Amino acid sequence: MSEEKGDVLRQLKVSIDQEGFALESHPKLGPAEAAVQGVLLAGTVQYPKSVKESALQALAAAAKASVIISKNEIEREPFVAVVDLEKCTKCGRCIPVCPYGAILGEVRKNIEFVTAACQGCGTCVAECTVEGALTQEGFTDRQIMAQVDAALAENASGKVLIYACNWCSYAGADLAGVMKIQYPSNTRVIRTMCSGRVSQKLIMYAFSKGAGAVLVTGCHIGDCHYINANHQTEKRVERWRTQLKAKGVNSDRLQLWWVSAAEPKRFADKAGEMSALISKLPPEELQSTTAKVVVRGA
Ligand code: FES
Repeated sequence: MSEEKGDVLRQLKVSIDQEGFALESHPKLGPAEAAVQGVLLAGTVQYPKSVKESALQALAAAAKASVIISKNEIEREPFVAVVDLEKCTKCGRCIPVCPYGAILGEVRKNIEFVTAACQGCGTCVAECTVEGALTQEGFTDRQIMAQVDAALAENASGKVLIYACNWCSYAGADLAGVMKIQYPSNTRVIRTMCSGRVSQKLIMYAFSKGAGAVLVTGCHIGDCHYINANHQTEKRVERWRTQLKAKGVNSDRLQLWWVSAAEPKRFADKAGEMSALISKLPPEELQSTTAKVVVRGA
């Protein structure tokens, strides 16, 4: 990728893959759109392609653009982060983790959320430690924890709970189903928009409910649909594993695994590996989890 092209893509906050090409929003449902709303793709900015293919994509992009400019108002995706300014302590932890620079201001003074710039990865929500200060529409802690409750309602210690990002891992799991690739029936998948939305609270909540193992899955590094939000996931999971170990919980019970939408077998294999791990753990390790991991206020 030329430096100039890279600069333009970075300024537009378009996700770039490992080869330096712009990433589309979805290979089937949004092939001419970037994940950033209002940015359209055509031609070799995406990957090397023929003139015919480029022209067809340009027509699709032009049609999309005409839909946007023909309206007086712009509709945005509903899954944005929402702040409660009464609860926000203005600690500023959320500012550096937002891949889109949608959170502005000065720590302890004024923090401003530019909702229109938010693309809905939820990474800031996972970073916030103040109860109820920051949440994501459609993916609130409450909603996700209700899914955890349902997933672990029976034989929790025999279950592998999998948090899967919408764009890659969930699609990979879906494809495993479509292709009839078998993976253990004790796995339960919970979807978030990005692996960056998975917070310490959501991990510890699953263990406090007795989950046998928790697997966080997301797009490979360099492929995250929210630029680099999964870099935060990588750092966080390492930290949470250390915290679990300090509580006396086997840290192998929490793992992170990158799975693309085209890797259904990789998803199934890892689910099988996690399931096998639980079956080898001593019963006292599994039975003592709920006493060791407690989530306050949950
Ligand atoms: Fe998949 Fe961010 S969208 S990890």
